[in-house]
Amino acid sequence: MSDKKKHSIHTIQKMKGSGEKVAWLTAYDYPTASFAEAAGMDMLLVGDSLGMCVYGYDGTVPVTMDQCIVHCEAVRRGAPNTFILGDMPFMSYQVSDEDAVRNAGRFLKEAGVDAIKLEGGQRIVSRIKALLDAGIVVCGHIGLTPQSSGQLGGHKAQGRTIASARALIEDALAIEAAGAQMLLLEAVPPEVSAFIAQKLSIPVFGIGAGPDTDGQLIIVADIIGQFQAFTPKFVKKYCNVAQVVTDAMKAYVDEVKGGAFPQDEHCYHMLKDEIGAFPDLKKEFEA
Ligand code: KIV
Repeated sequence: MSDKKKHSIHTIQKMKGSGEKVAWLTAYDYPTASFAEAAGMDMLLVGDSLGMCVYGYDGTVPVTMDQCIVHCEAVRRGAPNTFILGDMPFMSYQVSDEDAVRNAGRFLKEAGVDAIKLEGGQRIVSRIKALLDAGIVVCGHIGLTPQSSGQLGGHKAQGRTIASARALIEDALAIEAAGAQMLLLEAVPPEVSAFIAQKLSIPVFGIGAGPDTDGQLIIVADIIGQFQAFTPKFVKKYCNVAQVVTDAMKAYVDEVKGGAFPQDEHCYHMLKDEIGAFPDLKKEFEA
């Protein structure tokens, strides 16, 4: 376990004041979470993107609360000293404020996360207020909201027209006024996100929203080259895990078939004072 000091919502909010950028990454499993904590990540999101990155679904809509909880538990074990957000999956909050509180509460009670994130602007204001009344730290998420990508006409950047930029700014103001402690902008023009980040007093983070937000979120499977289906424009690949792992697996296949693996160093031999009796044991069974 690292001796890193864990953030609270207050230390994250202070970073906006000091101008220190927040580094935020998704994680879905124990090893990745432990690597992120060792790397000094400020926050982790157990995103519903796990539907695509871990389960191979086409989108995030099929993801269930139970799946999110299991992955949050693993990430919490891997990163005990990191601020973790659970992502409310589709239909965990769309129907009622009561559903939203009950399901968000599961993230805290069962998986020990520090905050939750949910998609939507003005239309989820009552959900945000209900969550805050329950004592839950809330991060809003507007712009490209994958759970409603059907309504948006696909996974498209938002805020590229004046009308769409106005709607985003109004949503951002409504989320802050409702009391959310953080906001995420996804796939938004940098000029619009810079304005929103400067206008709001809560931290405003971006994924595909340019450099002038209070911090960046990115999907781990994208930046390490693990997710193969497609790569959004805003992704920078820092390594190519798919290539490294496939090469290692090919080498294993070759060595097993060619007899190069395992070697003596990979074997557990019989104890020295026992092996002398082994020929007799074999004879018993050969008879
Ligand atoms: O699920 C997720 O990882 C997300 C990001 C794409 C913002 O919500």
